[in-house]
Amino acid sequence: MPIIAPSILAADFAHLADEVRAVEGTADWVHVDVMDNHFVPNLTIGLPVVQSLRKVASIPLDVHLMITDPERWAPGYAEAGAYNVTFHAEASENPVKLAKTLRAAGSKAGLAIDRDTPVEPYLELLPYVDTLLIMTIKAGFGGQAFLPEMLRKVRDVRRRVRVKGLEVRVEVDGGIAADTIEQAAEAGADAFVAGTAVYGAEDPAKAVRALRARAEAATVGP
Ligand code: DX5
Ligand code: ZN
Repeated sequence: MPIIAPSILAADFAHLADEVRAVEGTADWVHVDVMDNHFVPNLTIGLPVVQSLRKVASIPLDVHLMITDPERWAPGYAEAGAYNVTFHAEASENPVKLAKTLRAAGSKAGLAIDRDTPVEPYLELLPYVDTLLIMTIKAGFGGQAFLPEMLRKVRDVRRRVRVKGLEVRVEVDGGIAADTIEQAAEAGADAFVAGTAVYGAEDPAKAVRALRARAEAATVGP
């Protein structure tokens, strides 16, 4: 079943608890974008906000770390109770070791691949992660246009997951909306981050339901 993960990057930061509540009945995860003004030029939120969100959110937190030195910072998010902690391949010196550390700290481990990074070198790491996040934009800002050429990576990952019989979520992030989610699902994605398409909508819960319907309709069976 597809996972729909609204990104609070597009929500009202002064009312985060309300914004999470608005999608709790319909969404599967809440996606939290942590940016450090180093790995990406943008700056968002960090650990204290995730710790506070954890107290009010009744659905799992999907933390997406767009930060340098994830070896130093990522375990804190797992300890804070994040369900899934995703760090970037481009920022990590030893992704397998960090994934093991995250699992030991109590979260799922996710590896993210940015727009300009080929996925091939990372396919052999799939047995060590729970989530493989393919960026369908250049990481750093919400509201960018979906890049359909990234779906080749999604297909490559899905093929490897299927052939090896792995249990890995294939997540897409960036420009996911009613008009792009189907192609991503057809390519083999089964977790979908959506910021603008959810929180830019008048009724976020309705937007989540609409995305889910399209993803389900386009999901290719095993
Ligand atoms: C951007 C973030 C995304 C962002 C997506 O680097 O990783 O999660 O919130 O926003 P939309 O859905 O508006 O493209
Ligand atoms: Zn993200």
